[in-house]
Amino acid sequence: MARLLDVLRRDLGLTGSKEGCGEGECGACTVLLNNEAVCSCLVPLFQVEGASITTIEGLSHEAGALASPEKVSRLQQVFAEEGGAQCGACTPGMIVTIHALLERHPQPTRAQVREYVSGTLCRCTGYERIFRAVEVLTGQRPPEGVPDAHVPGGKRE
Ligand code: FES
Ligand code: FES
Repeated sequence: MARLLDVLRRDLGLTGSKEGCGEGECGACTVLLNNEAVCSCLVPLFQVEGASITTIEGLSHEAGALASPEKVSRLQQVFAEEGGAQCGACTPGMIVTIHALLERHPQPTRAQVREYVSGTLCRCTGYERIFRAVEVLTGQRPPEGVPDAHVPGGKRE
């Protein structure tokens, strides 16, 4: 039986959603199904007939334009600036999950962010940079940026 993730990646070429575990454990494949964050690896295609589906590609200002910096969403931009994305394996699922959170809680507490992202595994950041990115985005702390490798002690502009 075809899964939503397979159709998105293989048939529609929307490869932003990643396959990690394939068992609903890692959250790398998260998409919005009728504005709810779901693991697309667990969703059989027949369940989405007539539903609204948004992938990471759809969260950029212009679908399919992620390579263009001016067209990524502010959330994606802050993730990059604050080090919320490192290897990037979890990042699409993380961004989609946090987008769903912000739709419901525009000023989320750290506990709310922690709870929302608890099903999306990140091996790189320790989550601190992810929490920080959300807090910067929502005006709860000033931006810091991450040290620029080319400018010792420097910050990204
Ligand atoms: S690939 Fe879907 S949850 Fe891991
Ligand atoms: S940035 Fe590498 S797994 Fe999250």
